[in-house]
This record gives sequence, C-alpha cells and structure tokens, in this order.
Amino acid sequence: MRDVAVIGIGMTKFGELWEASYRNLFVEAARAAMLDAGVDRLDSMYIGCMSGGLFVGQEHTGSLMADYLGVAPIPATRVESACASGGTAIRSAFLEVASGMSDIVLAGGVEKMTDVDGGMATYALATAADAEYEGFHGATFPGLYAMIATAHMAKYGTTSEMMASVAVKNHENGSLNPYAQFPGKITIDGVLSSTMVADPLHILDCSPVTDGAAAAILAPVEVAEKLGVPAIVVRGIGMATDTIALHGRKEITHLGAVEVATKKALEMANLSINDIDFAEVHDCFTIAELCVLEAMGVYAPGKAGPASLAGETKRDGKFPINPSGGLKSKGHPVGATGIAQVIELVKQLRGTAENGRQLANAKRGLAQNMGGSGGSSVVTILEA
Ligand code: COA
Repeated sequence: MRDVAVIGIGMTKFGELWEASYRNLFVEAARAAMLDAGVDRLDSMYIGCMSGGLFVGQEHTGSLMADYLGVAPIPATRVESACASGGTAIRSAFLEVASGMSDIVLAGGVEKMTDVDGGMATYALATAADAEYEGFHGATFPGLYAMIATAHMAKYGTTSEMMASVAVKNHENGSLNPYAQFPGKITIDGVLSSTMVADPLHILDCSPVTDGAAAAILAPVEVAEKLGVPAIVVRGIGMATDTIALHGRKEITHLGAVEVATKKALEMANLSINDIDFAEVHDCFTIAELCVLEAMGVYAPGKAGPASLAGETKRDGKFPINPSGGLKSKGHPVGATGIAQVIELVKQLRGTAENGRQLANAKRGLAQNMGGSGGSSVVTILEA
C-alpha cells in the first residue's frame, strides 16, 4: 500500500441554507478543497450522502455531482452508511489511492435536510434504524438514544448534568467555529430547562437538522510534496459494523462497532489510544459522545460522564474532544459529517484552526464517525 495524505479541504457553512441547492452545496465544498490542494483535475470521487432520495428527491448523486463540478467523465460513486457515509467516503478514497489505482481522489459528503418538514426529516433519518423492528413501531433516533441514555444512567449513575456538560463544552468550541450552525454558548441549566425531546434528552442534548457539504482531497504523500502543500498523513483507518437494532445487542450502552473500528485504526497505525492528542467524535446526542469515549477506550465504562463534567474533554483538558463544536454545535448534515470531522483534524494538525480554537501540541488526531445507533462506525487517524 502507498502512503496516503489529505492534501486539500473545503466546506460550506453548516445551517439552514435556503438559498443553496443540494448540487451547489457539494460543488462549493469540492471547489474549495481543489483550490486548497492546488489541483485542477481529479481521478475519481466518492460522495457520502445518506438519503438524497428522501430529503431532496434526488438519487444518482455521483453522476449529478461530477457533471456540475465539471469533472465528468471521471468515476464518481455515492457511498452510504447512514450518518457514517462521510467516513465511508474517506475510506473508499483512501483504498483507491493506497492501492495505486488513482492519484488524486476527492472524498466528499453532502446532505440537504431542511427542504422537508421536521416530521419528514425524522422519518428519513429513522430509515437508518431497523425498519421492521424499530421504525415500524415508531422508534426515532432521539428515542433510540434516549433508551441508551436511560440504560447508561441506571447502570453507571450517569446524570443529566454530565450529559449536558458535553453540549456546553461543544457549544463553547463551536462559538469559535465560523462554519457552525449553532455557535451560541449555553449553560448546564439552559440544557436542563430546554424542551424535552425524548426523556432524558432535551433539545440541547440533540444535534440539529442541517444543510451542508464538505470535501477532502486524498493523494499519495509524494504528490503533496510535488504540489508543495502540507501532507497530513493517514496513519490508520478502521471500519466496523454492529447489529442495526438495539435489541440485538448484549449491552445497549456499549458501542461495539466503535470499539472494533478504533482497534483496527490504531493497529494499522501501530499506536495506542494514549498516543492520540485529540479527537472529533460523533456526538449526535450528548449520551453518544460519552458512550463513544468509553467504547474507544479513552475512559472505562461509566467514567466518561464524570470526566466530561470535570472538564477533562475541554480544549485545555487532558483529552480534547470535538474542538470544532462537534455535531451538536457545528451541525449534522448527515452525509457530510464524517468529512467535516476530518477537516477539523486537518486544520488542527496544520495549526490553522480559526478564532483561537487551535489546540496546543496537536500532532495526531482521530475522527470517529457513526451510523445510526452504532450499527456502523469509521475511525480515521491523521498525523501532521
Ligand atoms: N440544538 C440547538 N438549537 C436547536 C436544535 C438543536 N439541536 N434544534 C433546533 N434548535 C432551535 C431552532 O433553531 C429553533 O430556534 P428558533 O425558534 O429560535 O428558530 C428552535 O430550537 C426550535 O427548532 P425546531 O426546528 O422547531 O425544532 P424541532 O423540534 O423541529 O427539532 C429536534 C428539534 C431535536 C427534534 C431535531 O433537531 C432533531 O431531530 N435532531 C436530531 C437529528 C438526528 O436524529 N440526527 C441523526 C442522529 S443519528
């Protein structure tokens, strides 16, 4: 396998973007990434998108985007693994470059979620759960994560304040991110007094519904050197799956796919979790960030909540988590999220994170992207 680097990044602002269409969002992010890398051609591209069909009535995304980006006839493929579609696009692009098949490959992600009403958005998202055993009975993602939260509270004594501390920290980070959908700072009391969505999760425990796109260009390390752009090297990538339905799991507070994907990525990089300086993780709900940190081995089961409340995951804490603001504050256009996580890693590793968000000593970062209630996960480790 060849050594692969991320050589260019670009994204749109995340939010409710009425003035931008599905295709325009993607093209804006892709052109920004190409400009950043200094390339005027692509060999191939992969586009993470969870549900163009249900959100905007558009399938055949690969061809549409190649056409409007002006790069046809290159191969262009939509990849889908629910909210882990972006991470899956990174993995596909990595495999194509590492194998020697192509040199310059774009991994992008896009979702336009606000053209439909809230009920339809909730339905579209819920199709990533088990349709027969969960969706048919009315389960939604806030509902499924509320069940995980309730079990975590009962088993480990995790409290609503501990979960709220995740949202407070991520909004504090997001307040410094010019691309964030909800950059406002919040307090623990504010989270606890916000509208209840699915007990015990309040609206401020939930990631929002978002429009947005993101793109990264992957190439062999020597191409980065030739182009004179900083090479942020892909040290490891792991992907894993778990039962799609919560009832199939031995323990619903444990995210098995996250554990396996993290182990695979660390093994490939020949590193341990202690060698990682910071991470972007999939905080689609506050409880998800806590369960992910426990599954990745950053904290023992039940210990992530107290650590978060104690400030250990803040930008100046022991293990900074979600310096971008995470899905909670930055927004969660599901297909684009995994790419946006990698973009934050690249900014931190280049030392260019905006507005004082830059971490001290960011040499190695990890991005953890997750589909559904943990039915799939992709973990990517990058190094400066
Ligand atoms: N965080 C912060 N503020 C939010 C928010 C969020 N997650 N969601 C909405 N808001 C704000 C809105 O801007 C709006 O403010 P305004 O009245 O000042 O304009 C207000 O809260 C109400 O917004 P609205 O759009 O009416 O909320 P909603 O009830 O339709 O949707 C959720 C709220 C939480 C149900 C929706 O965001 C949601 O489903 N989130 C989860 C998405 C998801 O499941 N993703 C996949 C994960 S696996």
